[in-house]
Amino acid sequence: MYLILQNPGHNRVYYKEAAQLAVSEVSIASKRLSVPCKAVEVVNVAGVRYIALKIEDELSPKDVGILSRLSFTFAIFNQFGIYAEDGLVPIPMETYEYLDGKISTIQKYAGKTNELFTKMMVNVALLASDFSYDDNITLLDPVAGRGTTLNEATVYGFNALGIEIEHKSVHENQIFFKKYLQNERCKFLADKRMVYGKNKSEAIYMHEFEYAKNKEAFKAKEERKKLGLVNGNSQDADKYFKKNSVHLIVGDLPYGIAHGNTGANKSSTGTRNPSELIKTCLPAWKAVLKKGGTIVLAWNSFVAPKHKLAALFEEQGLKVMSGDAYDGFEHMVDKSIKRDIIVAKNI
Ligand SMILES: C[S@@+](CC[C@H](N)C(=O)[O-])C[C@H]1O[C@@H](n2cnc3c(N)ncnc32)[C@H](O)[C@@H]1O
Repeated sequence: MYLILQNPGHNRVYYKEAAQLAVSEVSIASKRLSVPCKAVEVVNVAGVRYIALKIEDELSPKDVGILSRLSFTFAIFNQFGIYAEDGLVPIPMETYEYLDGKISTIQKYAGKTNELFTKMMVNVALLASDFSYDDNITLLDPVAGRGTTLNEATVYGFNALGIEIEHKSVHENQIFFKKYLQNERCKFLADKRMVYGKNKSEAIYMHEFEYAKNKEAFKAKEERKKLGLVNGNSQDADKYFKKNSVHLIVGDLPYGIAHGNTGANKSSTGTRNPSELIKTCLPAWKAVLKKGGTIVLAWNSFVAPKHKLAALFEEQGLKVMSGDAYDGFEHMVDKSIKRDIIVAKNI
């Protein structure tokens, strides 16, 4: 049996639901392990809560890599004997970070999506897809805000693309990323190019970065990572990016609270319903998504029920993932936000 100790920060954010979210995330991850996992449950050892994986065989280094990346993982133990107290042996975790994880924690601003929750969405997207952490992944956040999802993607060494309708957020995100690369002495090229529009007045631009951890890595073009920020409308995603070019689409939809909903499709109430946004954008998102790729979106389930969103994905021929693990993510954020995630696959 393996026991995972949860990051204490995670507990503070979601209170009681932290354990349930962790069980859901690890249940999805367990399907990707090389050894069978009989059950995932919450256990108490000497007054401390752990997530237990009932596995009789030895985990492979790749398996440990998957568990090391889980959003809540603080430490992993192998448990010998009948009682946990008999012996908990710590398992060395994989050090996988391409850019340091602090890239997504140092910024604080209104409307920021919690970084551990974001990491969890990225993991769920990857684990539910046909791809692995070793693939040369490109992730798109179609509602990027100031970039928490993109930052989490850079920690994994994924290429990251973002679309954000508000100019100010794109501007601040671009400045932050450039400063970050400079401060960390990464080698990079920064560019701004037009990705769409007939003339300058209706042009849509992308801030583009090509970077590597150091000069040596930057020399080999295939070693370079990309980050692109488009100041545009997500419903035109297929006009900004190539078809079948993105492995994962991950985003935290607007809640209509900290962020206003700007743009042509703003509803009369000023709070765009997530169904409306998904309905408008999904054809373009599907067009850029590769076969075997996934879409993971977080939204306020007080505003729209999951089955309504699921119907929109199914209409577009995407498979909505369901079952205990996929249906165990709903949790209260505050009095007016009950957050959930929906996971759909391009089969
Ligand atoms: C909840 S916020 C995302 C916050 C982000 N995860 C972060 O931590 O910075 C949702 C974002 O979606 C943007 N948005 C809303 N409609 C959009 C559209 N049609 N295209 C692109 N972005 C849009 C909003 O401006 C807002 O910044």
